Amino acid sequence: MPEHRSSPTRRDFLRTTGLALGARHLPAAGAGAALGSLSGCATEPTATADFPKLADLTPPAGPDDDAWAHVRPYFVLDPGISYMNNASLGMPPRAVVDAVAEGYRAISAEPLHGKHGLQEAIARRVRPGLAAMFGADVDEMSLTRNATEALHLQTIGLDLEPGDEVVITTQEHPAGHKPWMYRAARDGVSVREVFLPSPLEETEATLARFAEAIGPRTRAVSFCHVTRGGHRYPVKALCALARERGLASLVDGAQAIGQFPIDLHDLGCDAYAASLHKWVLGPAGTGFLYVRSGARDRFASAFEPTRSIETPGYEPGGTADFPVRAALATALDFVNALGLDRIEARCRFLSDYLKSRLEELPGCTIRSGATPDRSAPGSTIFELQGLNALDAVPRLEELAGTHIDEHQRDGHDAIRVSTHVYVTTAEIDRLVEGLVAARG
Ligand SMILES: Cc1ncc(COP(=O)(O)O)c(C=O)c1O
Repeated sequence: MPEHRSSPTRRDFLRTTGLALGARHLPAAGAGAALGSLSGCATEPTATADFPKLADLTPPAGPDDDAWAHVRPYFVLDPGISYMNNASLGMPPRAVVDAVAEGYRAISAEPLHGKHGLQEAIARRVRPGLAAMFGADVDEMSLTRNATEALHLQTIGLDLEPGDEVVITTQEHPAGHKPWMYRAARDGVSVREVFLPSPLEETEATLARFAEAIGPRTRAVSFCHVTRGGHRYPVKALCALARERGLASLVDGAQAIGQFPIDLHDLGCDAYAASLHKWVLGPAGTGFLYVRSGARDRFASAFEPTRSIETPGYEPGGTADFPVRAALATALDFVNALGLDRIEARCRFLSDYLKSRLEELPGCTIRSGATPDRSAPGSTIFELQGLNALDAVPRLEELAGTHIDEHQRDGHDAIRVSTHVYVTTAEIDRLVEGLVAARG
């Protein structure tokens, strides 16, 4: 039976969540474990017999399977499944799942103080944690439900006149494309699409395509940091080009955030939309919108008619999914404990291994960018003669217990395999055997 407590006070709540004064001095992972205890229970919910404690998570010493073997037990995944579809939806570690559950328990057991405690956690740990992780100021970060929402907010907020033009690419996700169609229909904005081939060309060629598309009425460029197929754009150079030409730069970072270190100030973009439920391993329904403080005069708020530069009002208001958002603090602790540079190295190790195995298969063509600067560390796309990508998805589940995705785009019948840190080379071997069997 759970311990019965009558109305914990806000002070109790802050103490049990590690948010009371002084708790910010806890080591990151320890603070995350504390956040798991939102119900005020005396026992630590993340420290079950089967799951290791987040506070004990040590940084892997290298990128190989041995170095990462201690990380896999932090995940809840059914042992019969190999999960290689992280680019669609990430798989949160157990500590994050527990933090969401404990947050709901807290808000249900004692709604008033439960809600305040979660809001406090979001204000004191999530927003600053995101800003610190991604090189931004706290007041430049707005929390959203996903990248789609953030993309809409940055696109509909941009100050444009009828007849103004924006340059986007042929590789936008519908979440990045649709808001521009909305601006075209509502405001008469002209949308020019730059053709970008798959695989991506060298940086100079990509820059030249953008430079050529920019015309006298162009006011903004809008593109992915990493596409859904894993192509990695030269974002810093593209933002510099935009700045030189006096254009706003808007980036879709849904597939980039969490795969490798990113410093938003250094990147030089004006707005950046991100998912936190993919590579950051946050709970589903989390994302952020970054608007550079110096670019606030270019972006209107969708919510605040009386906004100011000091209070730009980009974040959707109203009641939010507080337990889900607060649990992001635990996801950030998890990522910080591993290190984004180590995550990148591990993901690259796995996709390099996958590519080396695919190269052994007759009739296999890898469509990912040829070099690391043009391909994301964790997503690989390829075509396999004799295997339709749509058919491959259920067949691989059936034959190899492996979850993958199709990528039938850009004229390719490609399969997408997205391998986050918890995947092993043995699972990749099983996937390759499954591909051979599925082709028949
Ligand atoms: C490039 C890109 N942008 C945007 C999105 C939408 O992300 P979300 O589901 O967080 O809205 C996705 C989703 O897969 C994506 O791949």
